[in-house]
Amino acid sequence: MTQADPKKFHIKSFGCQMNVYDGERMSELLVDQGMSAAGNSEEADLVVLNTCHIREKAVDKVYSDIGRLKRKDGTRPMIAVAGCVAQAEGAEISRRAPSVDIVVGPQAYHRLLHLLDLAKSGKKALDTDMPVVSKFDVLPTRGKQARPNAFLTIQEGCDKFCTYCVVPYTRGAEISRPWIDLVEEARALVDGGAREITLLGQNVNAWSGEDDKGRKIGLDGLIRALDRLSGLERIRYMTSHPNDMTDALISAHGDIPTLMPFLHLPVQSGSDRILKAMNRSHDSSSYLAILEKMRQVRPDIALSGDFIVGFPGETDEDFEQTLQIVRAAKYSQAFSFKYSPRPGTPAATMDDQVAPEVMDERLQRLQALLNEQQYAFNQDTVGRVTDVLLERDGKLEGQLIGKTPWLQSVHLISPDLRIGDMVDIEITQAGPNSLTGQITERLAA
Ligand code: 5AD
Ligand code: SF4
Repeated sequence: MTQADPKKFHIKSFGCQMNVYDGERMSELLVDQGMSAAGNSEEADLVVLNTCHIREKAVDKVYSDIGRLKRKDGTRPMIAVAGCVAQAEGAEISRRAPSVDIVVGPQAYHRLLHLLDLAKSGKKALDTDMPVVSKFDVLPTRGKQARPNAFLTIQEGCDKFCTYCVVPYTRGAEISRPWIDLVEEARALVDGGAREITLLGQNVNAWSGEDDKGRKIGLDGLIRALDRLSGLERIRYMTSHPNDMTDALISAHGDIPTLMPFLHLPVQSGSDRILKAMNRSHDSSSYLAILEKMRQVRPDIALSGDFIVGFPGETDEDFEQTLQIVRAAKYSQAFSFKYSPRPGTPAATMDDQVAPEVMDERLQRLQALLNEQQYAFNQDTVGRVTDVLLERDGKLEGQLIGKTPWLQSVHLISPDLRIGDMVDIEITQAGPNSLTGQITERLAA
């Protein structure tokens, strides 16, 4: 069967911010071909599900979403499955869900148009290669329209092989994009309206490269180069690995004003025994030592983390140590998950898998403590005068949502504010998840 040319597309990204970035790049590719973005999947004749494979639940969601794309009249849009589920499951996806037309992995989506042509003529359209030619070399240059808070992938893949994690298999080996490409892409984003850029990578602080003078530099050097771009007011990066947290990067937080006081540094567990079984190659005290150094140069740093409860073999005592490290580290926000065995990873076949009800109970206790810390952090910021970058519309009429330097959400209502504005506010109230504030000054657009 051949299919008509799709004219309107909708991309739905799941999982991490790198998927959001990939989704934007695919969108630019399709717009470049004369297609336009539909507001939702009902209005689209091509739907791209940009998937996440990190936990089992995320995978199940993809299959239920595919089923739901069928319209009331029995027809359906063209369906492409992209992202890490596509990479991991490959042809299995079309077997389980025959309505899928295209399967494209995260390192091959620059070939989406070719796959679209194949699918249109009724041919098998599957590409999960990890090609030698980087997708970044062939994707169109960034579009003119950028979000005020833009993402920029600088590093991809992972060589760390934590025993629970699929990323080294789905995103491949660590690669760093060249310095010059990143400076140019950042420049294009700023010219297109970005005021903040978050540098992305699975191990973003493992980025390394050479600057224009051929000097070897790390992430701190790249941040210093981006700091010199006029019009770029905020720089962030995520996700970092404790082992790549160099002194140079830590001290960059002390002297680069555009580098925001926020650090996402997952520890996963507070038990050294479990960290070893996870192959994390750091322990709880080396993690806390990094935080101490960071807080010396940037006392107001907001700390974020990731945690896994119920890793195989985790005892009550191990879990208590996780609570202890949370108390010692003090988080402003965090993500915590029940361990999910992933096919092909070493932990999936380890002895002593933890019972689901034990995981549930541990997750609840951990989240209660993390929520308490988040609320306390937010309350500590009441009374501060700070800048807020307005990023998107809120739910209420005339409401806008922005972020403080510490990545807290702020809700503001003011008729003459626009997305992309930077305003100074005094933080007047803090809830567990967001702040309210009074505008003191509107900063130049
Ligand atoms: N089970 C549960 N959580 C996981 N993560 C990664 N793999 C798994 C898994 N198998 C979590 C880690 C990581 C975050 C992105 O997802 O905490 O930092
Ligand atoms: Fe996964 Fe560990 Fe690599 Fe992070 S460092 S992507 S958790 S293997």
